[in-house]
Order: sequence, then C-alpha cells, then structure tokens
Amino acid sequence: MGNTGCALVDVDWSRFDPWRIQSVQHSLGGHALLQPDELVALGQRLEDAGRVRTHSDAAAPGTPFNTAPRLHPNRRSAAETLRDIGNARAWMSLLNVQTDATYRNLVDEVLDGLRPGVERVDPGMCYRAGWIFVTSPRAVTPFHFDKEHNFILQVHGRKTLYVWDHRDVEAASERARDRFHASHARDLLVWHDELRERAQVFHLRPGDGAYMPSTSPHMVENGDGPSVTISFTYYTRATRRDSILHSAHERLRHWGIGLPAVGAQPHVDALVFGIHRGLARARRAAHRLAGRSIHPDDAPYALADVS
Ligand SMILES: [Fe+2]
Repeated sequence: MGNTGCALVDVDWSRFDPWRIQSVQHSLGGHALLQPDELVALGQRLEDAGRVRTHSDAAAPGTPFNTAPRLHPNRRSAAETLRDIGNARAWMSLLNVQTDATYRNLVDEVLDGLRPGVERVDPGMCYRAGWIFVTSPRAVTPFHFDKEHNFILQVHGRKTLYVWDHRDVEAASERARDRFHASHARDLLVWHDELRERAQVFHLRPGDGAYMPSTSPHMVENGDGPSVTISFTYYTRATRRDSILHSAHERLRHWGIGLPAVGAQPHVDALVFGIHRGLARARRAAHRLAGRSIHPDDAPYALADVS
C-alpha cells in the first residue's frame, strides 16, 4: 500500500475516499501503551472518570446498542475485567482515551500521521478521539453506527467486523440516520440476520484494520480468544455538515415538512445547511451569554460521551 507520511497506519491514499469503506494495515501491535498492564492502569483511571462502557458476552448482534450495558451488565470493575479478560465473559470499551494525558500522545501520534492524507480530500479534522476495546472470547459488539469517521485497528487476537455502506438504506433507513444525528437515539436501527449478506466483512488479525465513514453501520464478533482493538476517530467539515443536515431533516419532519434525502438535492441541502448553521451559531452565542459551558463539534478533541 502507498504509505505517505504515516509510520503507524498504512493507507492506500490513491484509493482513499472519505465516504467509502476501505481496508488498512498498521504497526501498533508492539506499542508500549497497548500492552496488558498499561491497559489495566488506564482502565482504572478512566473508570474513576466514568469513561468505561461495558457489558457481558450475553449481548447479541440485535441487542440495542445504547442500552446493552444495562440489559447485560458486567458487574466486575474495569481492572478486574481487564486483568482476566480471557475468562471475564465481557466486552469493555475505554472511552475517549485522549482525555488521559498519556494516551492523548498516542491519539496525536496516529491522527497527526493520518491527517495530511485525510485533509487532501476531507478537510477540517477535529473532535479527535481514541477508543480501546478489550473483549472476551466470542463477545459481540451489537449492530450500531457512530457519527465519527473511524480507523479501527486490530491489535491483539482476531475478530470479524461487518460494515455496511452509509448509504445502504436496508441497513439503516434515512429516518434512522436523521433521528440519530438529532438525538443520538439508535432505536430505528433494526438488526436482522440477512443483513450479513449485504456487509463488507473483514476477518481482522493483528496488524489489520479498516476505515469506516461516519454512520456506516457495523457489528463485530470476537474470535475464540481475547482481543484488543483500538479506534481513532474524528469529525471533518463534511461530517459536521452531514450531521447538521440530518438533524435539520428530523426537526423539520416534526413540523410536517418532509425533505428529499440528504445528498439527493444539493441545492436543497445548501439552503437547509445555511439556515441551520446560522441557528446553531445563534444558539451557541446564547449559551455563552447565559454562562453555560459548551463543547462545540469543531473542538480539537472530543470529550466523554457514554451514550
Ligand atoms: Fe462503533
């Protein structure tokens, strides 16, 4: 693969399209911060800050993603779980690791390396974050999607990653996407087993990875051993615009105004975006005046968001 300017993640930039799923390779396997003892220590620190998401291995592909931790609780602490992940029967995500001073360096190291290649076609990288997934044998990440663009990299063990195109309305309807951007709700995403046939499937081993555009639905099945995976995520000018448009469509729908799907009519998108960007700015200014703290979506780094 063509490697331009990034030592840790190898992307074929000649084929890179920010809205297309693509395989990548990486060389993070031996990184000091991704070794078991370091992850136990990080888990302890993040748990104290409320930045751990976990559920048991009873979660299935169709379990609602947002409520999986409540429906299938993992009652052990982060440190206990991480120390014995082979037997813990758990799925654990260490959230927003960039909030930890040590791990922010890792997020910077990787995303600074990717930035020149990304910016050429998708400018405005911001809201940067890192997420580390430590998973017991055969545990599942339920079917869901996220707002960020995502480089997901397999560090230890094996897993099968299913990803669907972000435009695949069989996997996620336009309405599901609108609602998610407006409220973070994922309840209109519906899993059925036949969806597997429409997915791009990655059989990830250490050193393998994938790029998943914003709101590409995905589901992950862990292999027969424990595994460690890390995701590096960000917004760009285009993902922020896409999010504003979907969110606006959802709000307008409640007023009885139905619009063509985002992307179908560029001039409608331009008009809606112009109006809603203005409203968003006014809202932000009003919050500032009221002394309320806000974390804008063009901030350099993301903050914890457990939902
Ligand atoms: Fe995800």
